[in-house]
Amino acid sequence: MEYEEPKFFHVMKYAEAADGDVVDMVSGNPDWEPPAALREALSEYATLPSTEFQYPPSEGLRELRESIAARRNVDVDRVVVTNGTGEANYLAMARAFERDAGSEALLMDPVYPYYPGKTELLGGEPTLVSTERDGSLDVDAVREAASEETALIVLNTPNNPTGAVYDIGSVREVVEVAEAVDALVVVDEVYDHFDFTGTFESALTLDSDRVIVTSGFSKSMAITGFRVGYAVLPNAHAFPAKARHMLVNVAGSRPAQYAVADALDATDADYYAEAREQLAERIDAFTAGLDEAGAAYTRPDGAFYVLARFDGFPGTMANVKRLIDEVGVAAMPGETFGTAREEWIRFALVTPRAVEAAERLAEYFE
Ligand SMILES: Cc1ncc(COP(=O)(O)O)c(C=O)c1O
Repeated sequence: MEYEEPKFFHVMKYAEAADGDVVDMVSGNPDWEPPAALREALSEYATLPSTEFQYPPSEGLRELRESIAARRNVDVDRVVVTNGTGEANYLAMARAFERDAGSEALLMDPVYPYYPGKTELLGGEPTLVSTERDGSLDVDAVREAASEETALIVLNTPNNPTGAVYDIGSVREVVEVAEAVDALVVVDEVYDHFDFTGTFESALTLDSDRVIVTSGFSKSMAITGFRVGYAVLPNAHAFPAKARHMLVNVAGSRPAQYAVADALDATDADYYAEAREQLAERIDAFTAGLDEAGAAYTRPDGAFYVLARFDGFPGTMANVKRLIDEVGVAAMPGETFGTAREEWIRFALVTPRAVEAAERLAEYFE
């Protein structure tokens, strides 16, 4: 296998090396505070006896797994704590391929680029399946693409990059397709706290032995550097996933899990609501700027990305570099998210300078 540097790093490096002032709208790193309880728990951790600095249980700290299980209404044995949602996706996708049930993965287009990367890493073959214009699931397209070769279907809701929040009825239909061809469905719900519609429903509510749900605290607690995520697997898949996790990592980071466990219990709904409100305001302000720039754009129902299309300025890497050099705004080229949004550019709204960026874009494209 040939390994490639993710395009994301390429854009970040280019923006860092640029001469002028650049507003960073590339990464999905939240710019707001983590829960206060998380900082407190970290300080407290430093005072604990050194026995607490040793290996945690490989599958994750019991308190954290119990909290996750209670919130997700599942048996604690089904939960494995991972190094971010990224590892949870890797473990879940590996389970799908390990079953000798085919080597194809159906991925929705536009696609979060790590899914095709991981598919190939695991020896599978990615097939992109089109979604509706608004980013919602096209169940017929999934049905048509599915075959005996399909081992895995990956969904992400709320979606990066489209902002779509999938209707649970269509997720159920995809699970039925998976049943018919003996595939597993991995549903990445890392943006579950960023649903602006109030309609998001976890795929765990489907209670299916075909569904693995992955998520994490990187986005919801504004701690992408902590690397704490998890997978909730059907009983039959939980043990093998935990075994792979142990063989790859031994265990996850104990202080990070300790702090997240404390923060999870001590943080009320207001914390998450405030982050959502701040984002909703930013989306309004940024898209108002895009109106002035004469751009087409998607208003996200969830997550924190806006896709915009500027006339005669497709979402290529070359054009993204031009925006960095000539406008002072760094974003991601649509062409890195599969084939469906090649004309578009993705802006991450996790910067207080989003409005300034929109003004710069308006001035440039007006
Ligand atoms: C769809 C999706 N899944 C997973 C991740 C990675 O999350 P984590 O930091 O929890 O590994 C991201 C990060 O941007 C993402 O957008």
